[in-house]
Amino acid sequence: MSDLQKLILEHIRDVPDYPKPGVLFKDITPLLADHEAFAAVVRELAGLHEVDKIVGIEARGFILAAPVALHAGAGFVPVRKKGKLPSQTLEESYDLEYGSATIEVHCDAFAEGDRVLIVDDVLATGGTAEATVELVRRAGADVVGVAVLMELAFLKGRERLVGVEAHSLVIV
Ligand code: PRP
Repeated sequence: MSDLQKLILEHIRDVPDYPKPGVLFKDITPLLADHEAFAAVVRELAGLHEVDKIVGIEARGFILAAPVALHAGAGFVPVRKKGKLPSQTLEESYDLEYGSATIEVHCDAFAEGDRVLIVDDVLATGGTAEATVELVRRAGADVVGVAVLMELAFLKGRERLVGVEAHSLVIV
C-alpha cells in the first residue's frame, strides 16, 4: 500500500447504519479537514490526465473536482441533479435501488472534442458515473477517464464503465 493510500484510509471514518440500518457509510469529512491529506488527494487526481475540463458530480464530487480543476489548469463543469442548472441542459436518468435519478449538464459546457476527466468521491454501484460518462459524451466531449477517491469494490461499479479508464485512489 502506498503512503498516499495509507494517508487516505487513516482519514476516512466508517459510520455504521447511515443513511439506513445495515449500511456502513464511508465519511470523507475527516480527510477534507486535514490539509495534508486533502492536498495530496487533489495533487494525485490532477496529475492523472492532461485535460481541458474536469467534471464534478453533485454534491460531494464538487468538493474534490473544483480544486482538482484549478490544480490541473483545467476548467470545471458541474453535473447536477435535475432542475438545478439555469440554462439549457441535456439530461440522463439512471436506476437507483428504489426509483431513479436524473442528472443534467449545460448543453454548451464543452467545446467539441474537449478532453474531460470525471471526478467524484465514491464509485459504488457505478450508476452515477455511467450516466455521467453518457451525458458528457452526448454533450460533445471526449471522456478520458473517471477518477474517484474511493471505490467500493463489492458493489462492482467498475463493471459498468466498460471502455472507460477508471481510477480509484483507494479500493475498500
Ligand atoms: C454518492 C456519491 C456518488 C454516488 C455513487 O452521491 O457521491 O456520486 O453516490 O453511487 P453509485 O456509484 O451507486 O451511483 P449521492 O447520490 O449520495 O449524492 P451526494 O453527493 O449529493 O450526497
